[in-house]
Amino acid sequence: ARKVTTHRLIEMKQQGEKISMLTAYDYTVAQIVDGAGMDVILVGDSASNVMAGNATTLPITVDQMIYHGRSVARGVKRALVVVDMPFGSYQADPYEGVANAVRMMKETGADALKLEGGEEYRDVFSRIIAAGVPVMGHLGLMPQSINKYGTYGVRAKDDAEAEKLVRDAHVLEEIGCFALVLEKVPAALAARVASELSIPVIGIGAGGGVDGQVLVVADMLGMTKGFSPKFLRRYADLNTVMTDAIGHYVADVKSGDFPNETEQY
Ligand code: KIV
Ligand code: NA
Repeated sequence: ARKVTTHRLIEMKQQGEKISMLTAYDYTVAQIVDGAGMDVILVGDSASNVMAGNATTLPITVDQMIYHGRSVARGVKRALVVVDMPFGSYQADPYEGVANAVRMMKETGADALKLEGGEEYRDVFSRIIAAGVPVMGHLGLMPQSINKYGTYGVRAKDDAEAEKLVRDAHVLEEIGCFALVLEKVPAALAARVASELSIPVIGIGAGGGVDGQVLVVADMLGMTKGFSPKFLRRYADLNTVMTDAIGHYVADVKSGDFPNETEQY
């Protein structure tokens, strides 16, 4: 299968073919996700929550994102691999942002980076794109700004925030972002953005009127318990599957059933 490119994603939008996107943080899961036919694999900074157990995405570092990004890129043959730039790696200074972006591309082997933020970041996003790095934008709920919002609730419910989001989306397209993630915004607003932009809009909790969907792999496989936002569809109950299998192993070790004669040298 041919490698998915940023140009291919724009073509898919033009042809009305929906884009599938899912997170992965390690080699083994990335191989499975890629083999299942995913278009885009996101090495999200949600690794901070899912892999490290932090309450927010804020603590994860550039070095840690590089470790996850490189691990995923090694396991992927077809999907476009996108890595999140973590909190603090591009907000302080455009030059530092470009240096971090270049380093993340060189050291991960990823195809593109994703950055949260709107027109306030026009300068640094433009410089990163000018350096040859494809950038995916991220608007709506931006988890790196959780301390500004105070909650993970739906964003852009009022007209002022919705109009700013639409303006930001147009700025991101204008400066050359190849795609845009919209997280947790009203479906009608997301559909409007998708129809106004020529770059693909990929939603999470943003309804079906956009050009593609993204979910967090541990959530959609049912590994995480107690996280049940309305937008999440669970495609498996791996928490139960894994707990049963591991419990079975514990019991077999205790009983002496494992290993048997064929499972030893
Ligand atoms: O980090 C992440 O997993 C993300 C997706 C939810 C879009 O940014
Ligand atoms: Na993210």
